[in-house]
Amino acid sequence: MEIVITSSTSELASLGADVVQATLARKPDAVIGLATGSSPLPVYAELGRRVAAGTMSFARVKAFMLDEYLGLPLDHPQRYRTEIDEKFTYVVDIDPANVHGPDGLTADVPGTCTAYEAAIKNAGGVDLQIVGVGTDGHIGFNEPGSSLASRTRIKTLNEQTRRDNARFFGGDLSAVPIHCLTQGIGTIMDARHILLVALGEAKAEAIHQVLEGAVTSRWPASILQMHPHVTVLVDEPAASLLQLQHYARDTFANKPSWQGF
Ligand code: GLP
Repeated sequence: MEIVITSSTSELASLGADVVQATLARKPDAVIGLATGSSPLPVYAELGRRVAAGTMSFARVKAFMLDEYLGLPLDHPQRYRTEIDEKFTYVVDIDPANVHGPDGLTADVPGTCTAYEAAIKNAGGVDLQIVGVGTDGHIGFNEPGSSLASRTRIKTLNEQTRRDNARFFGGDLSAVPIHCLTQGIGTIMDARHILLVALGEAKAEAIHQVLEGAVTSRWPASILQMHPHVTVLVDEPAASLLQLQHYARDTFANKPSWQGF
């Protein structure tokens, strides 16, 4: 696991975009996993700038979203597909038909989840999965207590997550859906490379627990300790409770130039 503590959001965005660009340089038709939430937004914006500058292209890329609220109408601004289209799809040059997400309006939840797993598999699996982390350590919408081997399924959001996300619903907790569809932790762990992005002091405890605590469903993202290729990009406030932050800084400062991401 590589932990990089960045000194600014723009440095984080640039390194995150470097990770994506390195993946596409190796494999121009890569499959990318997309996270919603505020954390990856600076990375998506930087990817948009690089596409506009002509230095990279998503023309052959397929993308799969991590999760979706259940029951939000198609025109709801907080629907994750809407959010991803605004912040990623229409910002880079990906074909919108190649961006997939769980159908939050399905009448057949189990069938939709099984089909989503099959679609990821048929695409060849995810080469690079971008994830954020919740203040309670969730990845995707896999709340504490989720099976560490789970696959795409319905989840009930816990109240802390709904409170965290109420800011996107005009501060109205009752407007935040109670259910969602999310890739499982096992699904996420199948990705070949995982990029975790976390910003801000509110994430400090989760980042400490997830990266330095026990591997436990209490902090679902802690399972990433078991993955062979994880890159973590955090800002100083999010890294502030890391006990091994000096080692992370030393390691990155002394990274061999040939190593890349
Ligand atoms: C949301 C999403 C996650 C996201 C997390 C953190 O609820 N389902 O994919 O990583 O919570 O969000 P943010 O980056 O806005 O803090």
